[in-house]
Amino acid sequence: MAEDAFVSFRGVFAGYGGADVLKDVNCEVERGGVTTIVGPNGSGKSTLLKTVSGLLKPREGEIIFKGQNLVGKTPKEILKLGVVQVPQNHSLFREMTVQENVELGAFLVKDKKVVASRLNMIREMFPIVTERANDKAGSLSGGQQRLVEFARCLMLEPDLVVLDEPSMGLDPKTLKSMFATIKMMNNAGRTVLLVEQNARRALKMSHHGVVLENGKVRLSGTGSEVLNHPEIGALYLGGSIEETTAATVVPESPESESVE
Ligand SMILES: Nc1ncnc2c1ncn2[C@@H]1O[C@H](COP(=O)(O)OP(=O)(O)O)[C@@H](O)[C@H]1O
Ligand SMILES: [Mg+2]
Repeated sequence: MAEDAFVSFRGVFAGYGGADVLKDVNCEVERGGVTTIVGPNGSGKSTLLKTVSGLLKPREGEIIFKGQNLVGKTPKEILKLGVVQVPQNHSLFREMTVQENVELGAFLVKDKKVVASRLNMIREMFPIVTERANDKAGSLSGGQQRLVEFARCLMLEPDLVVLDEPSMGLDPKTLKSMFATIKMMNNAGRTVLLVEQNARRALKMSHHGVVLENGKVRLSGTGSEVLNHPEIGALYLGGSIEETTAATVVPESPESESVE
């Protein structure tokens, strides 16, 4: 196990009743970094994320987080350990206000003062939480709702934020601010595990990339290693975003990239 592994998948097999979807997955999520999982549709990316948050129990294998095996723990126990997943589909309570939704994120925190101080911090990070505090969540655009979902998940001060295709359905402008927000969450100390259809863009800001193919890890390495791998590029990254030229400059470290 790598020294700085934060989450370690060891020989994970998982599926839905019948055949295995994940077939002996071994990979790691680096502490403090952004790790992006890419791969074709149906390769098991969402399935892998579900095993982390406890929504799906692997048939075999271990997922080690903070020295504990997550396999067999309930989603709530995993949440308490500091793992928060923002689901793929919109998950705000549409009839509740933005602020109420965000406050709900701290449902495990009993101390009202702690909740209030976190809310203040979240407001600084996400101005929309203040600007639209009293509006019903259902009245926000898709991109705005996504930001509020991020804000809500941060109320638990999670150590690991798990995001499944957060850019789904967002227009290009909102997409940009969504990526900037992921970066901001990471800079604020959250380790991020991301699945993203905008694979190139996601890998560019990732410290680590994992390519899943048919339920197996095809390749893992730094974000730029995955990005620049000739076969992977041709197979899975082609045409996924505007930057299609092989000459695209990859920053030496994810920090060096400025996100507008
Ligand atoms: N709830 C489910 N029940 C049965 N099969 C599922 C379920 N969810 C996903 N699958 C199957 O598992 C495989 C991997 O799916 P998924 O993990 O969603 O892939 P990805 O996220 O990489 O597109 C697919 O063949 C899919 O049909
Ligand atoms: Mg998926």
